[in-house]
Amino acid sequence: MWYSELSSTNDLAAALAERGVREGCVVIADTQTAGRGRQGRSWCSPPGAGLYVSLVMRPPARAIPLLTVGAGVAIAEGIRAATGLTPALKWPNDVYVGSRKLAGILAEAGSTAGGAQHVVLGFGINVLPAAYPREIAETATSLEGELGRSVDRGTVLAECLAALAARYDDLQRGRPAIVLDAWRVLARPMFGRSVEWDGREGARRGIAEDVDDSGALVVRTEGGLERLISGEIRWS
Ligand code: BTN
Repeated sequence: MWYSELSSTNDLAAALAERGVREGCVVIADTQTAGRGRQGRSWCSPPGAGLYVSLVMRPPARAIPLLTVGAGVAIAEGIRAATGLTPALKWPNDVYVGSRKLAGILAEAGSTAGGAQHVVLGFGINVLPAAYPREIAETATSLEGELGRSVDRGTVLAECLAALAARYDDLQRGRPAIVLDAWRVLARPMFGRSVEWDGREGARRGIAEDVDDSGALVVRTEGGLERLISGEIRWS
């Protein structure tokens, strides 16, 4: 379903999911007036400058732990297939080119009145430099900014949806190792880098080493290995 303007594609997809829409329903907007990012941030969504897409999923239990990791892999693969760019992943699933963020994913779980679970998987890809505010120009990038040529949004969308379907299929069929291996290759630039997060007793620091089978980030600290399962982390 394509809309010229929505508050947030995730909101409409969630409302449709609650009303029982079929799995695989895709909601796309040319612009969002209240696009949302992770950790309560907003996602700048000016008209025609990016891809703003949400998918309704009804994953079986075995596919849930690695759903967002798999989505990160798929978006990176879709971008590569459509444009030739080779983005990297930063845990949990931010898509980067070098030190600049190109795309992000927001997965939100919910349930219908009858109790059926669903996940709305939203992704935003900067296509034009106008997709992000000037204030973050040092840390953000876009497909056309990287490539120096125009990019067909339809092709990027089609390749991302195809890659999402393939990676979701891997998870549904019980092949998480394939997804994790692909993730490790895409996230290689991040391993060995210093990472900081807020623990219960203040800021913590360590070196990112790996991702385990549940999708947690494995970090080496002075006290040994720790697993980070969610929350905000800062890379340095
Ligand atoms: C992030 O990196 O913080 C996640 C950004 C997710 C943005 C997308 S755009 C389509 C969908 N609708 C939203 O409101 N957010 C997601």
